[in-house]
Amino acid sequence: MTKCTRKRTFRHIILACLAVVAGSLTGPLAEAQETQPVSPNLTPKLQDLLRTEMRAVEDASREILSALIAGNDARVAELAQNIHDSFILKQEMTPQDKQALMAAVPDDFVAQDRAFHNLAAGLAKAARDGDSDLQLAEFGRMIEACTACHARYATDRFPMLAE
Ligand code: HEC
Repeated sequence: MTKCTRKRTFRHIILACLAVVAGSLTGPLAEAQETQPVSPNLTPKLQDLLRTEMRAVEDASREILSALIAGNDARVAELAQNIHDSFILKQEMTPQDKQALMAAVPDDFVAQDRAFHNLAAGLAKAARDGDSDLQLAEFGRMIEACTACHARYATDRFPMLAE
């Protein structure tokens, strides 16, 4: 705490103390988030759908990068909207598949997936608005969401994220 008291203004003290507290919390919290690969719990059909979806999302993300660096807002909007609308999983899943998926994955996986699709919608909106800075920020957040989910739920497929 001595570091905190040395800061000059009240605001700095608060910020510095918060940083210390946050620093001491992230360790144990991060450890509590156990990795938990979901794929082994899925039926072969669902595994297949998920992988096909993932490859489509990756292709779309690559194309978004090309459109971003070309300033092609309309293309970014279209591709990001496709990701949001989840081209494959939703279209090809029967109600029974959906039930099986929900039963096989933790709630947090569903929440991360939903958050990811919302980020894609945010990117699509930024592109429709022609806001270049926001598009870059939203794209970065979307890619972070890929890695975050893989680090927690796909370390069997991406073992380097487990380190
Ligand atoms: C909510 C969780 C989640 C999000 C978000 C997510 N993924 Fe995945 N991804 C997975 C899981 C789980 C697997 C492992 C599937 C398997 O091995 O059966 C996977 C596998 C993959 C694969 C390998 C597919 C294959 O054929 O083996 C690619 C490529 C991929 N993801 C790309 C992405 C990209 C790019 C993004 C973001 C734009 C993303 N993923 C976002 C959960 C997620």
